[in-house]
Amino acid sequence: MKKLNGQVAIITGATSGMGKAIAEVFIKEGASLIISGRSSKRGIKLEKELRKINKNVLFVSGDISQSEQNKILVDAALSNFGKLNILSLNAGILGLGALTDLSLEKWHTTIDTNLSSIYYLCKYAIPEILKTGKGNIIINASIAAFKSFPNHPAYCASKAGAVALMKQIAIDYAPDLRANAICPGPVDTPLLTDSAQAFEEPEQAIDNARKKTLLKRLGEPQDIARLALFLASDDSSWITGTTINIDGGILIS
Ligand SMILES: NC(=O)c1ccc[n+]([C@@H]2O[C@H](COP(=O)([O-])OP(=O)(O)OC[C@H]3O[C@@H](n4cnc5c(N)ncnc54)[C@H](OP(=O)(O)O)[C@@H]3O)[C@@H](O)[C@H]2O)c1
Repeated sequence: MKKLNGQVAIITGATSGMGKAIAEVFIKEGASLIISGRSSKRGIKLEKELRKINKNVLFVSGDISQSEQNKILVDAALSNFGKLNILSLNAGILGLGALTDLSLEKWHTTIDTNLSSIYYLCKYAIPEILKTGKGNIIINASIAAFKSFPNHPAYCASKAGAVALMKQIAIDYAPDLRANAICPGPVDTPLLTDSAQAFEEPEQAIDNARKKTLLKRLGEPQDIARLALFLASDDSSWITGTTINIDGGILIS
């Protein structure tokens, strides 16, 4: 039996990295999907690939830092698939720069993309999810919610905010809806390569991160996708309001 049979999910940040891996796992497990991102080129390519597995997938392009784009995603789920059960919120940017150098614009773009977008999407989606009597929200936060990194002030603040918001959602909408946050350590995606630019020797920084994990490897997007599936499925039916670190042990090293 497929673990997400009959479920409808919106996945943000599906055009790359972990969101893409989550889309690949969710579709194999029977979910119908709205996948989103700004890049139409990558989004349409992924939509085509996923349709070979299950035709119930639609790419919707747009910038989720804008409130109305999130309503468009919810409307797309309802008009194409008739309901909405799961949100997998992955879209994220770094907004690098020391606090005193960071422009107001970069601060706001980072907070709006990483944090306000969660509020926007949940605001439109939760009333619809509650109609199904059983919903699930999975926020891709970061170990940056608990640990600071050089020149990542907006990123770390947004991720700590995302964890706080997740707990609030879990409290306010239980028992019909579960909400949890995944907190990855260094995962091999384009965002990690960009993040390393905040260090003096970027390649060395990635290698150091790999060596610092207890398991001596970077995470793969599929590691995160398997955890997202666990949280989205009934396998985790007594888990809500929690954060799960998935970091090769780097936080305790
Ligand atoms: N990689 C890591 O080491 C790491 C560690 C901890 C947490 N995370 C978190 O994991 C999540 C996924 O990151 P990733 O590593 O998979 O990065 P990635 O490969 O760069 O993917 C980021 C995704 O976010 C989308 N996105 C960014 N801004 C957007 C916007 N304004 N509107 C719509 N979509 C937007 C991008 O799509 P478009 O480019 O098409 O817009 C892309 O699909 C992020 O929230 C990140 O903070 C990553």
